Amino acid sequence: MKQKPIALEAYEALADAYAGRIDTKPHNAYYERPATLSLLPEVRGKRVLDAGCGPGVYAEWLADHGAQVTAVDVSPRMAAHARQRLGSKAEVRVADLNRPLTFLSDGSFDLIISALALDYLEDWRRVFAEFNRILVKNGHLVFSAGHPFGELIRNQSMNYFETQRTVMEWTGFGTKISMPYFYRPLQAMLNPLLESGFVLEKVLEPQPIEQFKAADAEDFEKLNRQPGFLCLRAMKG
Ligand SMILES: C[S@@+](CC[C@H](N)C(=O)[O-])C[C@H]1O[C@@H](n2cnc3c(N)ncnc32)[C@H](O)[C@@H]1O
Repeated sequence: MKQKPIALEAYEALADAYAGRIDTKPHNAYYERPATLSLLPEVRGKRVLDAGCGPGVYAEWLADHGAQVTAVDVSPRMAAHARQRLGSKAEVRVADLNRPLTFLSDGSFDLIISALALDYLEDWRRVFAEFNRILVKNGHLVFSAGHPFGELIRNQSMNYFETQRTVMEWTGFGTKISMPYFYRPLQAMLNPLLESGFVLEKVLEPQPIEQFKAADAEDFEKLNRQPGFLCLRAMKG
C-alpha cells in the first residue's frame, strides 16, 4: 500500500508561516543555509534540482546565480509558495521523494540540492538511487539533515543505533506544530550514500554565523558547542 509522506500534513499546516519567516529565521538563515551554500560547486549554467524545496529560497538563490532550476516538494501549499516566489525563474512540481521521479530523465541534472528534507524519508537508499539516476556522471549531491549526535544529546536514553520515527514540537515559526521525522544514526546516513554510487567529498558540522547571535544569543552559544545539522557534499562516481 502507498504510504502517506509522514510530514505532509504538518508542512501543509506550516507552509504559510514557514514561507513568511524562512528568509530570516536564525536556524536557517544564519546557520543551515550559509553552511549548505558553502558546499555548492559553481552553479552558473548548471541544471539543478532542489529536492524538498519548501517555499523556494534555495531555488531562488540558484536561479539568481545563473542555474537552470527544477524544484520539487511534496506539499502543494509549499509548492504554491515556491511558485509565487520564483515566477518564471524555475519550474516547480509537487512530488514525493519517497517515489520514483519518473518525470525526470536519466542524467538530466548536474547538481541536486536537498536542504533539511531527507529527514522525512525512511528509506535513503531509494532516494539516493533516484538522485544517482538523474545526475550526470561526476554530478554533485549537496544535502543537509539533522545531526544524529544532536539528537543523542537531547535524549540520552534513546537507542542511538536504531533508525526511528520520532516527533519534535516546533514553536519557532510562531505557531505550535508537531513535526514527525526519521532519526537515523551516522552509519545509516553515510552507507546508503556510498552504496548508491556516490563518493563523499566533504563533511560539514556547521556552527552558526555571527548574525545568529543578535537574533538568539542562547541558541548561538549552544550551537557553537553542540551539533544541530550535518551538511554533506557527494559526487556521482
Ligand atoms: C524543513 S523544510 C526545508 C525546505 C527548504 N529546503 C528550505 O531549506 O527552506 C522541509 C521540506 O521538505 C518537504 N518534504 C517533506 N517530505 C517530503 C517528501 N516525502 N517529498 C518531498 N518533499 C518533502 C516539506 O514539504 C518541506 O517543504
